[in-house]
Amino acid sequence: MINAFQEQRHFEELMQPYRAAIMIVKTKLEIIDQELKFKCEHSPIHNIQSRIKSPQSILDKLERKGISKNFNNIKELNDIAGLRVICQYINDIQYIAQLLVLQDDVIQIKHNNYIQYPKENGYRSLHLIVSVPVYQREGMMQVPVEIQIRTIAMDCWASLEHELAYKTNFVANNDIKQRLKWCADMMAKTDEEMQKVYLELNQPWSCLLYTSPSPRD
Ligand code: GTP
Ligand code: MG
Repeated sequence: MINAFQEQRHFEELMQPYRAAIMIVKTKLEIIDQELKFKCEHSPIHNIQSRIKSPQSILDKLERKGISKNFNNIKELNDIAGLRVICQYINDIQYIAQLLVLQDDVIQIKHNNYIQYPKENGYRSLHLIVSVPVYQREGMMQVPVEIQIRTIAMDCWASLEHELAYKTNFVANNDIKQRLKWCADMMAKTDEEMQKVYLELNQPWSCLLYTSPSPRD
């Protein structure tokens, strides 16, 4: 008979590679930020948050996907490990994403550009799912990590919308939907304007012109 303690330990053991993958990808992002700060005097990353999906959310998501609710099925999920990267300016988002996926040990699995194509409610972010190799005693395994990259303004909107949508009995009527969408669009305008100001002030001398590094494939 498995007791609650053993169950908790088994779960923590399953989470170990995901914790390692978060550390690896976070370090890669910090290195990108550090290099740009040093070479271009611009630190594109405002901050990085990370989370491991809770046991309850894992079970809920397996159920939503019609997969049997067993922790051994977590391989079916790509967002057990999650990172949220908050950037200063819009152009930083694509630039950082490209520098990350160009790395030989980072495999891009999915790319959803909700900035170019915002969700109907106004949600904007770049979503990537990548996988990185994690080495354990038993050998190497590829571990998926979900990365959401967004500006400070996009994060402000998404955090408040999430709070409104989840923590109240929010059955959004059209009026509320429109007002939230209006806020999202205003924040997008602000982002565009702040980017323009940054470029006007810095472009004459900055080495960071956001020119695309060539994609790997
Ligand atoms: P999940 O089942 O929620 O993981 O969705 P998905 O696998 O279809 O992926 P999607 O890219 O749509 O969303 C993944 C995550 O992005 C969510 O868990 C949220 O953190 C965030 N997200 C997506 N849409 C919205 C939105 O409309 N509002 C807010 N606040 N966050 C969102
Ligand atoms: Mg998710």
